Amino acid sequence: MWKWWSPVSLFNIAQYDSFILYALALNETLAAGENPRNGPIVVRRMWNRTFEGIGGPAYVNANGDRDTDFTLLDLNPNNGEFQAI
Ligand SMILES: *[C@@H]1O[C@H](CO)[C@@H](O)[C@H](O)[C@H]1NC(C)=O
Ligand SMILES: *[C@@H]1O[C@H](CO)[C@@H](O)[C@H](O)[C@H]1NC(C)=O
Repeated sequence: MWKWWSPVSLFNIAQYDSFILYALALNETLAAGENPRNGPIVVRRMWNRTFEGIGGPAYVNANGDRDTDFTLLDLNPNNGEFQAI
């Protein structure tokens, strides 16, 4: 059966976001006149920042870990609809 949507794997989403983050850091490194082959300098620009990921704003904390926001949905038995709780 034909579907108008297709499921996108989480792996592809993470890959897209990591590529965008790398491109931003690389661009800033070049703009600052620094060596783009110096990995630690490029990576440092990926930390402690928010950027526009595929699913909205994505935040990488000062340790380089990605902090993710989730919305938990609960099925309301009275109207059969999911609601954010
Ligand atoms: C890349 O760097 C240039 C020079 O600093 C800047 O003008 C441009 O907005 C940057 N592009 C992105 C996508 O951040
Ligand atoms: C993170 O960035 C904010 C502003 O963008 C700054 O005030 C803060 O000192 C930074 N923290 C670290 C650990 O670099």
